[in-house]
Amino acid sequence: MRRNLAETKRANVVTQHDIKLELDVRSQKLIEHKLCSSFPEAALLGEEGIAGDPQSDYRWVVDPIDGTVNFAYGIPHACVSIALQQRAKKRSPFAYADGYETLVGVVYDPFCNELWTALRGQPAKLNGKAIRVSRRAKLNEAIVSIGFAKNRETLEAMLPYFVELVQRVRKMRIMGAAALALTYVATGRFDAYIERGIRIWDIAAGGLILQCAGGDFWQKPSGPDHTYRMIASNGLLRRRLTVPD
Ligand code: IPD
Repeated sequence: MRRNLAETKRANVVTQHDIKLELDVRSQKLIEHKLCSSFPEAALLGEEGIAGDPQSDYRWVVDPIDGTVNFAYGIPHACVSIALQQRAKKRSPFAYADGYETLVGVVYDPFCNELWTALRGQPAKLNGKAIRVSRRAKLNEAIVSIGFAKNRETLEAMLPYFVELVQRVRKMRIMGAAALALTYVATGRFDAYIERGIRIWDIAAGGLILQCAGGDFWQKPSGPDHTYRMIASNGLLRRRLTVPD
């Protein structure tokens, strides 16, 4: 990602609000090869496709380049997001709708050299040091980040709420990399992050990192293909925020 940031990149698919790069696919292949040869028993669910045995109790959830549009334009705000999930044995408050819960989460920002890690039940870390969410409890002092996903329907559903919220918070931020927005909430840089129409590979690792940093990570399925509505916060702001249906 560092080597290619300023280069002209080949796009596989371009839509009005999204770009899929050939480098997304190459990055996933690289990650897939490492993970699947080291842990052949786990399946892999990635933004660029699946691998391994889908019946496995374990799966890697991979976004090989999160923040692809930033990266495509040479904006150094993008990351790699990898989670390990296990099929939850019984009803777990942490499980996603398809029954998997995250055990390990890793998010790496190669441009700032920041590596966030979390193991369920242990404190989340940034470059090896424990992190914690912010203590801001007032919306008018908060920085809230928002994502508009990729299609017109989501944009239209979110815009009225954005217009309302932007007047109540200190600042809204639209940074363009969901996994980094989650780790920024986990580190206390942002106080909350909301998005509708987000996909599981954008949030699986960052969601666990946030929970292990003392935050609140709420998600609910909102469509096919692992699509979710999500509210991530420091916990203190959770009830002051919503995400349109
Ligand atoms: C996207 C980014 C963006 C978010 C979208 C995601 P991608 O991921 O995280 O910030 O708003 O919902 O799909 O496509 O760059 O991996």
